[in-house]
Amino acid sequence: STEQLLDRLYEEESLEAQEIIAVLRNPDQNLKKRLHHLAHLKRMERYGDRVFLRGLIEFSNICKQNCLYCGIRSGNKTVRRYRLQPEQILECCREGYELGYRTFVLQSGEDDWYTTEKLAGLITRIKTLYPDTAVTLSIGERDDETYAALLAAGADRYLLRHETASRKLYEALHPTMTFDSRRNRLKALKSLGYQVGAGFMVGLPGQTPGDLAEDLLYLKALEPDMIGIGPFLPHQATPLKDEPAGTVINTLDMIALARLFVPNALIPATTAMGTAHPNGRELALQAGANVVMPNLSPLNVRAQYTLYNNKICLGDESAQCRFCLEQRIEAAGFHVDMGRGDSLNYLSRT
Ligand code: SAM
Ligand code: FES
Repeated sequence: STEQLLDRLYEEESLEAQEIIAVLRNPDQNLKKRLHHLAHLKRMERYGDRVFLRGLIEFSNICKQNCLYCGIRSGNKTVRRYRLQPEQILECCREGYELGYRTFVLQSGEDDWYTTEKLAGLITRIKTLYPDTAVTLSIGERDDETYAALLAAGADRYLLRHETASRKLYEALHPTMTFDSRRNRLKALKSLGYQVGAGFMVGLPGQTPGDLAEDLLYLKALEPDMIGIGPFLPHQATPLKDEPAGTVINTLDMIALARLFVPNALIPATTAMGTAHPNGRELALQAGANVVMPNLSPLNVRAQYTLYNNKICLGDESAQCRFCLEQRIEAAGFHVDMGRGDSLNYLSRT
């Protein structure tokens, strides 16, 4: 029965594609509750009730790529573009450090103004000023030399979602990018020694349960340190504007399955989950997620980093998000951990 599949998944930390599909297709609410509960138990076993906070700095919405789903795609001529200068990014870090953050996530579109040299200089300054922090980059695809130089400058982690494990769907959604290159970049980041984050969207137009099963099997093989999963949410100025959003339920199922397939991963309760449902992030934490990434970007640029419609926290000061989330996390039954929060796999590698 499907119930027994879940027990086996808990023990063996894997299932066959057909078995994953059977779980995803099963409409039984109690089965899904059991899935989320097993993921919660696995997370408690590995990480306890701690939730790690990361300060997210969205430093440029300028992007040369043209992903069909994304609000900051180059083809969207209606966005006001911005790029924070290194000094402004350092100011966000200073504020974040004072609020207690010990991880900074620097995220942007693929903006080549930020050359290897500029990025390396910035990372060196952050790590010199704040040596007890971790720096996470999320700036898309770059060559091996750049990845190596940024690691040497002090970067610790890199988020590069694989977006979808279906080659066909990947190619349909990324007119300027290739499936093979994405996978090759993830491999390169991993072999260089970064803590690597992969991940995908749930509910992409045309995505099947079979595709989602492949996402889990790909993650199982890659064994990343971090896994970002969020619902696809449409943006009004993209070609996918009329497509239905991914559902909270399906995304929770995928978060829980990711926890059970890759138990040592750090899994964020994403902003997209908080946008799709008022308690989306809390629900994610209760289904196996253990990271939250509050926004540290300056208020005057927040609204311009809009990947999808109705994004939350556009008007909230960094300090407000910090304390709002602490309250939400405690109310959901967990405890905030302001440490660097390295992944268990990474700690055992070093
Ligand atoms: N440019 C970098 C990259 O591609 O890795 C980082 C920034 S990119 C905007 C960050 C993530 O946002 C993507 O990996 C994608 O999964 C997510 N995203 C973009 N548009 C989205 C949408 N409409 N709904 C949900 N997630 C979206
Ligand atoms: Fe930003 Fe709650 S997380 S206000």
